[in-house]
Amino acid sequence: MPGSGGDALRVMGQGANAIAAYRQALALGGNADMIRYSLAALGAEPSPTLSPQHCIVGLFDMYAETFDRDLVDKLNYQSPRLLAQLIARSVPADARLDILDIGCGTGLMGEGLRALKRTLTGVDLSPNMLEQARRRGIYDRLIESDIVAFLETQADQFDVTVSTDVFIYIGDLAGIFAGVRRALRSDGLFCFSVEAVDDGDFVLRPTLRYAHSIAYLTRLAEQNSLVVATIEPHAVRREAQRCRLQHRHAVFFLRQAVTPNPSP
Ligand SMILES: C[S@@+](CC[C@H](N)C(=O)[O-])C[C@H]1O[C@@H](n2cnc3c(N)ncnc32)[C@H](O)[C@@H]1O
Repeated sequence: MPGSGGDALRVMGQGANAIAAYRQALALGGNADMIRYSLAALGAEPSPTLSPQHCIVGLFDMYAETFDRDLVDKLNYQSPRLLAQLIARSVPADARLDILDIGCGTGLMGEGLRALKRTLTGVDLSPNMLEQARRRGIYDRLIESDIVAFLETQADQFDVTVSTDVFIYIGDLAGIFAGVRRALRSDGLFCFSVEAVDDGDFVLRPTLRYAHSIAYLTRLAEQNSLVVATIEPHAVRREAQRCRLQHRHAVFFLRQAVTPNPSP
């Protein structure tokens, strides 16, 4: 996201100085959405329920070329491998599944699911991330869309929905859970990674990433007829070195209850 003096101070843990720098940038006509979001992450503005979408597109369009190298090589990114293993353990070896990858990015998750797919659909906001995914040649459909907007058009389409390292940009997951529940076939699987926090439902951290509590995710699952099959604590990646905070991560694995979706 576009830098400013505030960004550097925030990353160094100098909250009060960062807030002053952001306020100055705001007064000088800087990117108001992004600055307010950063202020919210420092507790100086009300917290929004998701990251500003044009900032997500700007960030990942810029990052797409080097994303795989940075995440896999430098930060030892593990989520796709962990989720693929979990899914493979939970379905018959010869299963061929209709899989939805929400926030697919460059397709690292799709790569791990290659052997299990009948069809693979990826959804993402960033055209450049989608272009990287397209080059892998494993996705049957790649759709440029917000996740919730896409899910609202789907019913009983998928055996598995996966999402790795995406909910760090979305605080309120109620729309996602309701949409996934509708999009999944009965007995379908929903598998995702989050940063974990102990208290409250979700919190926007000074890293500009959301963390969610297990209690909140379990409640959303229950509200949407999803049964918690596994919750595994994992270090899904190293933190960037410039970022001093260490966070816990968790991988969630939910199974759709056998009750069919309600009639429209
Ligand atoms: C950190 S990347 C992870 C990509 C991929 N899932 C992986 O594990 O490599 C997060 C991705 O989520 C996408 N994203 C974030 N919010 C989104 C939203 N509301 N709708 C669609 N895509 C979103 C971003 O564009 C980005 O490609």
